[in-house]
Amino acid sequence: MRVLVTGGAGYIGTHTLLELVAAGHEPFVVDNFENASPRALARVGELIQRPIPHATCDVRDRSTLTEIFEDIRPEAVIHFAGLKAVGESEERPRDYYDVNVAGTLTLLAAMEAVDCARIVFSSSATVYGAPDYLPYDEAHPTRPLSVYAKTKLMAEDILRDWHSAHPQSAVLLLRYFNPVGAHISGRIGEDPQGWPNNLMPFITQVAVGRRDKLMVFGDDYDTPDGTGVRDYIHVVDLARAHVAALTHAEKTPGAEVINIGTGQGYSVLEMIRAFEAATGLEIPHEIAPRREGDIAAMQADVRRAETLLGWRARHGLAEMMASAWGWQSANPQGYTTDN
Ligand code: UD1
Repeated sequence: MRVLVTGGAGYIGTHTLLELVAAGHEPFVVDNFENASPRALARVGELIQRPIPHATCDVRDRSTLTEIFEDIRPEAVIHFAGLKAVGESEERPRDYYDVNVAGTLTLLAAMEAVDCARIVFSSSATVYGAPDYLPYDEAHPTRPLSVYAKTKLMAEDILRDWHSAHPQSAVLLLRYFNPVGAHISGRIGEDPQGWPNNLMPFITQVAVGRRDKLMVFGDDYDTPDGTGVRDYIHVVDLARAHVAALTHAEKTPGAEVINIGTGQGYSVLEMIRAFEAATGLEIPHEIAPRREGDIAAMQADVRRAETLLGWRARHGLAEMMASAWGWQSANPQGYTTDN
């Protein structure tokens, strides 16, 4: 299918482009390149040996976006574009509602203009909030704890209501757990701007010498070793989940919420040990106070993804670690220095 990919130059977007092309789809990227580098798209082009067609456009720019849709006539959309830093979302709520919520509405308007009725949306397990039980299944109540989480849930609600009004549409709301790792080539990977918010890029930046040590946020949680437990998923598996979602959307109208994780949880200390084992490096770390807003543990119930999409994660922790290091060691400063 012709697939318009918003935010296609980002971490998950670039990995998804490779899987889309491998599956015979024709992606077209729309990105404002505010949090992503054009070099990332160039690297994808290099890997597939042809350029990725794209346009520089913000998802809130309705007239340009509609022109692009009229030109490309996509049969489906994958909507990655959005702001995603929890702490920043509390400081700049208007920007988060504007980009993540208003941006989704603008996108829907552009889709309607060309009768495009399939969308795969990049949501997050953060919409669940504190767990009543684990693993989270999709019926778990949603109680977002941050502005960021609220914007993701609002966008989900908008898309669900849009489906109700357009019963022939296919809306797939993918709730990602914690994506880590990189493509095996080491040419594309996660490249956070500034201070990394997330664990994995912090570990690789310590390993490459950009940071002195990792702070482990709390060792007094109610988990086996006291540190936070998360469901880390290899970004290539996550990318494949989007292809499976498109295949489903092509044939089946409906609105579905689907967890995308492995179903397996690892603690911060287990992540450090796994990285050290995979790379032979040592990660200096020390225990620090808990980070505000963090929960002890989260893990996905992945049965719906298996039954509905026929998808399950294939890559284990060692591959997540080795590939994350493959990317970071070959690109110590991310995309800022090209080679
Ligand atoms: C965070 C976001 C979540 C978002 C997800 C993916 C918060 C509260 N949640 O999830 O909304 O969807 O990223 O982008 O920010 N840790 C350390 N030291 C560090 C960094 C992290 O010990 O320097 C710990 C955390 O306390 C946590 C685990 O590592 O236990 C994973 O943290 P992180 O990678 O930030 O992901 P989440 O907090 O799960």
